Amino acid sequence: MQSECPEISAQERGRVLEITINRPERKNALTQAMYAAMAKLINEAREHSHIRVVLLTGSEGNFTSGNDVADFLSLPSDFENSAVGQFLGALYHCDKPVVAAVNGPAVGIGTTLLLHSDLVYCGDDAVFQMPFVNLGLCPEFASSYFVPRLVGHVKAAELLLLCKRFDGAEAEAMGLVNACVPAAEALERARTAAEQLAAQPPAAVRLTKKLLRHATFDVGERMISEEVSHFTPLLQSGEFREAATAFMEKRKPDFSSFD
Ligand code: COA
Repeated sequence: MQSECPEISAQERGRVLEITINRPERKNALTQAMYAAMAKLINEAREHSHIRVVLLTGSEGNFTSGNDVADFLSLPSDFENSAVGQFLGALYHCDKPVVAAVNGPAVGIGTTLLLHSDLVYCGDDAVFQMPFVNLGLCPEFASSYFVPRLVGHVKAAELLLLCKRFDGAEAEAMGLVNACVPAAEALERARTAAEQLAAQPPAAVRLTKKLLRHATFDVGERMISEEVSHFTPLLQSGEFREAATAFMEKRKPDFSSFD
């Protein structure tokens, strides 16, 4: 299996498809081309019986700083059929186990995609954040549904309204990751877990993943669409324009004139 995008690499390690995000000069921020390449690889992994597990990671001490902020400004209005929409769908519908290895920033979708992974290992250098409100946006990838289920309402409000950053130890305590390990060991821990999963009886693994998600699957899918129906128009809002422009101009945003 090969990636069509130079910033996404794919490597088959035995029966594990390892997908690496590789744009370190932008902290692995994701563009439409990168989402499209990851969606295609995940869908191919589902179809190829040889592959039993997908492992997601990032290069040079970065998981991903989330959607490329400049790319957000040119996102097509047909979000659901956009590359990012295809990626959300591919990961959400992946019936094979997904393992993630996180080092450095895991921001925005870098955090929310972990809610849809099966096993997650992070390094003690990991930094998580869901800064949607900081950007004048709203939660995505059903995080408005799954984060409160994970941590309760008031902690979820801290993470999604105040956009609090948190580290690997906190991520482990809240159950977002299985283990926070020394930074240099995160990928190896994830690879070991992925190899263990790949050696398990595959039909039983797929069925068990399906059963684990059964109670929340339909509502999660509805929430992805509900959030998108708000997120897409917000990309045209003045609040988002101010936040994105401030990020690119490396200044603090000023929301004092908004209603
Ligand atoms: N989109 C576009 N560019 C990004 C980016 C993103 N999501 N994240 C980082 N970059 C760029 C920075 O602008 C900087 O570019 P420059 O070298 O031209 O100045 C470069 O990548 C390095 O980032 P920097 O901010 O200097 O690194 P840092 O270690 O101080 O901080 C982050 C890393 C991830 C905490 C910080 O870059 C950040 O908060 N990024 C924005 C995350 C975000 O809002 N994502 C969208 C979520 S919905």
